Amino acid sequence: MSALADFQNEIYLKGLGDVLPELPTDLTGLEGLAERRLSAQAFGYVAGSAGSEATARANRAAFDRWRIVPRMLRDVAERDLSVRVLGTAMPAPVLLAPIGVQSILHPDGELAVARAAQAAGVPMVLSTASSYAMEDVAEANGDGARWYQLYWPKDRDLAVSFLERAKAAGYTALVVTLDTFTLAWRPRDLDQAYLPFLRGIGVANYFSDPVFQQAVGGPVTDANRDTALLHWIANFGNPSLTWEDLAFLREHWDGPIALKGIQHPDDARRAVHAGMDAVIVSNHGGRQVDGAVASLDALPAVADAVGNQISVLFDSGVRTGADVVKALALGAQAVLVARPYAYGLALGGEAGVRHVLRCILAELELTMTLSGLTRPDELSLDTLVRA
Ligand SMILES: Cc1cc2nc3c(=O)[nH]c(=O)nc-3n(C[C@H](O)[C@H](O)[C@H](O)COP(=O)(O)O)c2cc1C
Repeated sequence: MSALADFQNEIYLKGLGDVLPELPTDLTGLEGLAERRLSAQAFGYVAGSAGSEATARANRAAFDRWRIVPRMLRDVAERDLSVRVLGTAMPAPVLLAPIGVQSILHPDGELAVARAAQAAGVPMVLSTASSYAMEDVAEANGDGARWYQLYWPKDRDLAVSFLERAKAAGYTALVVTLDTFTLAWRPRDLDQAYLPFLRGIGVANYFSDPVFQQAVGGPVTDANRDTALLHWIANFGNPSLTWEDLAFLREHWDGPIALKGIQHPDDARRAVHAGMDAVIVSNHGGRQVDGAVASLDALPAVADAVGNQISVLFDSGVRTGADVVKALALGAQAVLVARPYAYGLALGGEAGVRHVLRCILAELELTMTLSGLTRPDELSLDTLVRA
């Protein structure tokens, strides 16, 4: 029996003592609040997308073109939203997407997120570009569920070192992000000439890595900092990778592997052939290819192509519990929430992230229940109509 919706009662009961929620419960309102709180550079980095941001807008608009059709008198007294994805049990089909450089949002960055995720029982996916080293984040996450997201560097020994460290630190699944082997044209960052990495933020996993350190003449200090940053730039992404290279990851990672950034059913089929365990239908929140298809519009064809062979996960544009319902109905087995928790972090640190998670899980359970649905596997195209 799920108790995720109890957050609603908790809020109303606290109201009897004149205590109000610390942040809005409509998570679409967080971006505006975060804009007032953050520096223009930090806000631009998070809220910004590629080019004219048409794809970021399309991601949201795509959700609006689907509507849930509630069904009545179905005995929804007992609910169970829990699922198991890539060997990880979770209270609902919701995970935290990898977001890099979180210390620009809050000094505790990924450490705060790791604590909030553990408290809510929600798995987190830690970015290679995190502002704290993966071992420190794992410690903050305790017995929480965690996956590691790889930005596959040019130096293969460095890639292997990242994988070995992630395994040792208790990250159980590998998410390989394919859509960001180089950064896109992002006008908000370009106009402010702002790239956090060049200021030494989001490079903790590199600077703490023995292979990386060896390449730059030892631990990174003021003396070799410029060399280290240049080495980071030279190594960050690898545009020459092909499907054949995935065998290398299989060789060095014995857990499940998910490919993030898939938008075409043929690429999803290739993931199956390459022995991958999952695809994440994502366009990086519109941050990479402006004018690209909305991620939700890409989802049904991918789910159709491979959904009965490997796991299909989804992100890009998820803001509410109802959005999660729509993505699940269109074929996702689980959904990654991204910008909303980044804004929660900016506005309230660990408590802000916990608030976002509790809101989205409560709203998810309530939306399902009121629609006549008690378990995620009951969701299908029959749940929706075109608006
Ligand atoms: C500030 C920011 C940093 C991100 N960093 C990463 C990253 O390091 N690795 C990654 O795979 N995706 C990264 N993403 C993409 C997210 O994982 C996710 O795909 C995207 O944010 C989904 O779009 P949405 O936030 O609009 O829902 C980042 C997104 C944002 C907004």
